[in-house]
Amino acid sequence: MIELRSDNAAGVAPEILAAVQAANTGSALAYGGDDLTADLQEVVRRVFEHPAARVFPVTSGTAANSLAISAATPPWGAVLCHSSAHIITAEGGATSLFGGGAVMRGVDGAHALIDPERLREVLESVRWGDPHESQPSVLSLTLPSDHGTVYDVDQVAKLVAVARERGLRTHLDGARLANAVAALGCAPADVTWRAGVDVLSLGATKNGALSAEAIVAFDSAIADELVYRTKRSGHVTSKMRFQSAQLAAYLTDGLWLRLASNANQRMAALVAELQSLAAYGVRLLDRVDVNMAFVEMPAAAIDAATEAGVQFYRMGPTTVRLVTSWQTTAEDVAAAAARFREACSSARDGETLTG
Ligand SMILES: Cc1ncc(COP(=O)(O)O)c(C=O)c1O
Repeated sequence: MIELRSDNAAGVAPEILAAVQAANTGSALAYGGDDLTADLQEVVRRVFEHPAARVFPVTSGTAANSLAISAATPPWGAVLCHSSAHIITAEGGATSLFGGGAVMRGVDGAHALIDPERLREVLESVRWGDPHESQPSVLSLTLPSDHGTVYDVDQVAKLVAVARERGLRTHLDGARLANAVAALGCAPADVTWRAGVDVLSLGATKNGALSAEAIVAFDSAIADELVYRTKRSGHVTSKMRFQSAQLAAYLTDGLWLRLASNANQRMAALVAELQSLAAYGVRLLDRVDVNMAFVEMPAAAIDAATEAGVQFYRMGPTTVRLVTSWQTTAEDVAAAAARFREACSSARDGETLTG
């Protein structure tokens, strides 16, 4: 089997497992009162170059998003995000639950990235001050987007500037932030708080951690709220030190970027192979900026590749989503490419025979 379903399907990176093992000596104060959690705080401030950033470990990306946003919006608020954003399409309304009824509103833009002009139009169409309409309060950007595309630093700053004209705060869903930072080659600070982001969902699980994610608050008022909101939602875990140990190892010595670079490079190699199958009707449906590709191919070829042991999500009769991870090897890519080629070729032969 070749795993291309999701980076969530990958295992735990050995360096992170080693950090959990190393943390497993003696006893420590519970609920984040331990030294490893204090160390994590310093690691986050160093990596994000922000002396007052505050970190809150949580156990899932959905928790990170919904809690981070709930700390930034009033219950009558509207959270503006791309129409394809995970918070609006795939989190069961968790943001509205924790946001006390705040709604989410989709904004469009090519490549699953919000178009600043569209954002401005949406903001201009709001009946500000009218209690009949939820009042936009937070802009939530997803980086990389749910289609595997990235905003560059200037695009983030521009969207934040448009949002700020109307007093919105900005949340960044960074479930795969490492993949974006590795692709952009920028400092983590550049694409977050220096571009105006107030609060970040920092993913780690998809990129080698074990149910460890974090909220990083660059805004002290949001951080103050999160102290209570994380507890009330059950995310102040008694053995937080094992999450903190993972997150600190993840961010130390560039491990997070090395793991993500592997995923990105493997996908780039796979994409090059897929592009060589254009004559069989294989076509990329969008840019591939990180470790995720949406690809169109003949239905029979998809069936044959599945039969041959390539695992991926089928998004439609002739559409698949392919995702590489920190764990994907060059051999996996070569084997996947060979099987896709074979699948395309056998699908075409089948067509010729029946056609
Ligand atoms: C962009 C994005 N944000 C958030 C999440 C939520 O993460 P979790 O599944 O850990 O709740 C995901 C998960 O796939 C995601 O892709």
